[in-house]
Amino acid sequence: EKGGFPHFMLKEIFEEPEVLRNALAGRIKNGRANLPEMENVVPAIKRARNVHIVACGTSFHAGLVLKRFLEDYAGLTVEIDVASEFRYRNIHIDENTIVIAVSQSGETADTLEGVRRVKVKGGTVIAVTNVVGSTLARESDVVVYLNAGPEIGVAATKTYVSQLAVLFIIGAYISHLRNEKDEIRQIINELEGMPTIFEGTLSTMNESILQLAKEYYQYRHFMYIGRGYGYPTALEGALKLKEISYIHASAYQAGELKHGPIALLDREFPVFAIVPDDALKAKVLSNIMETRARDAKVVAICTEGDQETGRIVNSRIEVPRVSDPLYPLVMSPYLQLFAYHIAVLRGNDPDKPRNLAKSVTVE
Ligand code: F6R
Repeated sequence: EKGGFPHFMLKEIFEEPEVLRNALAGRIKNGRANLPEMENVVPAIKRARNVHIVACGTSFHAGLVLKRFLEDYAGLTVEIDVASEFRYRNIHIDENTIVIAVSQSGETADTLEGVRRVKVKGGTVIAVTNVVGSTLARESDVVVYLNAGPEIGVAATKTYVSQLAVLFIIGAYISHLRNEKDEIRQIINELEGMPTIFEGTLSTMNESILQLAKEYYQYRHFMYIGRGYGYPTALEGALKLKEISYIHASAYQAGELKHGPIALLDREFPVFAIVPDDALKAKVLSNIMETRARDAKVVAICTEGDQETGRIVNSRIEVPRVSDPLYPLVMSPYLQLFAYHIAVLRGNDPDKPRNLAKSVTVE
């Protein structure tokens, strides 16, 4: 049932090209987002004054990417919180509030409670989930499904990729309604090409990331850093590593290093830098220099042919050049593979990490 793969996690990472195709199927028409399931909430989107995103764990990281996307392309200011905090916050919610709830399983207790509060106060809930008929799907105003198929590995992999794809479509849809920007067409266009990019790179990258993992699997700590769209990627990379390899990993906005965390770094504490070739790259490079000054080894994930980054880091993983918001998507399989190989080299079963359940149905 693992289709020749040693673990479900690896099998599911290799399903990502197909999962992306399914997430996008029928949802792009003439270069625009096509989501008939959202029609009922069009008036609410048009009048919305507050937009909140609510999710936990990996789904929260996907939500962070959407937040930035909506700010960049829909001209909306978006709040986001993990559901366990959101449900106990006294935030103003009324009929002009839209909440986007992201949950792979659709059964996460905190996310459901957050959604219930929004409904009681008259807000509109857009659910993004993988499970048809899940509680979240039933209790929300509209549902956009991931269509990713069941995910067996406890750590979310293919569903994260699929969440990002679906959230870009939702982001583009909202942008069309609020404040159409030309760049959206280009992003949608590149999004359509993403399954082919994944297909073309996964196998060879898997080999090189295994080699990289062999250099790093014995460290006890890792610090992931990124800025802008790179920050959610840093958070997700660190979460994957800690949950299956049990290596302590933290993630920081690269600009925060000098406000404290840099004190931790030395030759035993490597850095994983997220370096998309965007407007913030120069800033990330100067943060990398600061970590090098502490003797930390640095692995970077950057754009193909980026010599500037190549010169200052110990190892690098290269991804194709894409528009800024799509870097989190194009980078995610490689962060997943890095965590996967490190976990296996350390003798862990990545499909069944200790202390974790696939869906967290209690508070
Ligand atoms: C991490 C992981 C968890 C889930 C979180 C939310 O790999 O799988 O962090 O993302 O428990 O679950 P859902 O998306 O089902 O609400």
